[in-house]
Amino acid sequence: MAPVVRRITYPDLFENNRRWAQGVLQKDPEFFRRLSRQQSPRFLWIGCADSRVPANEIVGLLPGEIFVHRNVANLVVDGDLNCLSVLQFAVEVLKVEHIIVCGHYGCGGVQAAWRGAALGLIDDWIRHVKAIAADHRDRLTPLAENDAVDRLCELNVLHQAVNVCRTSIVQGAWARGQEVAVHAWIYGLHDGLIRDLEGTIAQADQVDRMHQKALDELPSRPNG
Ligand code: CO
Repeated sequence: MAPVVRRITYPDLFENNRRWAQGVLQKDPEFFRRLSRQQSPRFLWIGCADSRVPANEIVGLLPGEIFVHRNVANLVVDGDLNCLSVLQFAVEVLKVEHIIVCGHYGCGGVQAAWRGAALGLIDDWIRHVKAIAADHRDRLTPLAENDAVDRLCELNVLHQAVNVCRTSIVQGAWARGQEVAVHAWIYGLHDGLIRDLEGTIAQADQVDRMHQKALDELPSRPNG
């Protein structure tokens, strides 16, 4: 059976919005008034910009329950003021308890990095993924293309989660005794399910060990 793709027009968005807001108010008349006063999410999501990986929906959370940053290929890069500002605000002001870095199989950014595609400005961004691919070339090159991309998607998430752990923001939080755990997840576009790749990193001395363990286990992981 051919997949049905909804054809949504621009005016539909306003109509959808009215219907959504009404629906929310029917269940909880105070919902927006309460939320407009303050947010206190317990989770930070750092995920891919891909339209098929919407943070709130995937984990069944309402507005106000998860703080979200998304970029192409869910990267956490030194010097990216955008991502690091989100991280700082989430950790130091909102005091989130969990930071979830979530990649996804079939990620276009990771695919482009693996193939060495020339797409313009985005090439500069995904060179961070190319560097990870280069570090793991021995492991990846024997694989069929799709498998190599899926493994690289996993490796990328693990590396980005470790990048989160190594920021002065998270190191500082742990040093102060603030409880914040970092998680590396990957999402399957084909089944809608999340896999936890690395378990939990909740203190500074777990970072290297957990990262190595996850890398060691990676080749035997069932595909997607
Ligand atoms: Co992606």
